[in-house]
Amino acid sequence: MNTVRVSLGHRSYDILIGEDLLQDAGSLVRERVTGGRVFLISNLTVFEYHGQKVVDRLEAAGLEVVHLLIPDGEKSKTLHTVENIYTYLIAQRADRNTALIALGGGVTGDVVGFVAATYLRGVPYIQVPTTLLSQVDSSVGGKTGVNHCLGKNLIGAFYQPSLVCIDTDTLSTLLPREFQSGLYEVLKYGLIYDEVFFTYLCDNFERIKERDPETLATVISRCCEIKAEVTSIDEKEADLRRILNFGHTFGHALEAATRYEGYKHGEAVAYGMIAAAHLSHREGYLDSKAVQRINRAIFSIGPLPPASEVPFPRLLDAMKRDKKREEDRIVFVLLEKIGKTVIRSDFQEDLLSDVWEEVLRESQ
Ligand code: NAD
Ligand code: GLY
Repeated sequence: MNTVRVSLGHRSYDILIGEDLLQDAGSLVRERVTGGRVFLISNLTVFEYHGQKVVDRLEAAGLEVVHLLIPDGEKSKTLHTVENIYTYLIAQRADRNTALIALGGGVTGDVVGFVAATYLRGVPYIQVPTTLLSQVDSSVGGKTGVNHCLGKNLIGAFYQPSLVCIDTDTLSTLLPREFQSGLYEVLKYGLIYDEVFFTYLCDNFERIKERDPETLATVISRCCEIKAEVTSIDEKEADLRRILNFGHTFGHALEAATRYEGYKHGEAVAYGMIAAAHLSHREGYLDSKAVQRINRAIFSIGPLPPASEVPFPRLLDAMKRDKKREEDRIVFVLLEKIGKTVIRSDFQEDLLSDVWEEVLRESQ
């Protein structure tokens, strides 16, 4: 088992990564909660695969477990779902010592984290992420929240979990497209922070795609180390944490322009990373060899759903409305070189349009 610490003073916590970690869920949770009762919140898909094991292990450790299922999918990431959870917690007389456990992907983790942040002004929660994307990204760093009908993730809170428990075995049941979507986010960490890790990923894609447990543990641990380091320095995205948004300017726009139905989050970010690499080249940072290296890495993960149907003006419009814009400026995380970022804004629309044309040409 690997341990990564997120250092945030009295709100510090461990991320544990390993094979068959759910076997130890009872003792790991028991050590970190004060109450005798926990609420395990999941969805039916994940619960059917992994839920009973968690319940059994928690009960074996002497905890009373109440489990609650929320609907699967991004559409359930709403205040309505949050309200249903509040109602259930109130009916069950959950108190301030009652810990919540989020078992599932990023949707479950974000919703449960937000409930934990707000129910009785804050109760403890534990993340047990089960998608690659949630294991390397959403379960770490304390961003919680839900969507509003006018935009994604517009309502939320920074609220850190007490523990992140990553059992790499849970990935064995994940659909290939979901796994692949998480891999693009994995690649992001190498690109923004660690060229050696980027090279390791390029050299080991086959073993990663075969979901070799040892390789997965190494990869997930390195991503968590990077995310822990960044969020420990800048918890609330005032500065350094913005680098985690590499690929997200075009990526979020692509998701929004297709009403969150055309692409998995990681796939949209993959397009965004290709665009950001080209823009970095146009701005005189990356040489063309580095851009090609990045493109090769992205395309070796697998095919991306086509983006040729999405006209640039729709993307631009979405970028202008994104919550990460700063006043009227569209902000981009670019690469000075692989492993090092630079934040820039104020680009001509024609340049962005050219970049998007290049992305489309290359991804055909
Ligand atoms: P998801 O939670 O919808 O999970 C994807 C699908 O995989 C779902 O159908 C789920 O039921 C299923 N699934 C989960 N684990 C499984 C398993 N082990 N076996 C089989 N099926 C499994 O999506 P996601 O990609 O995990 O997360 C996306 C969400 O995360 C988005 O809402 C995004 O906004 C959010 N996010 C948050 C942060 C953050 O910092 N909080 C960062 C990135 C993304
Ligand atoms: N996923 C970006 C962040 O956590 O800041």
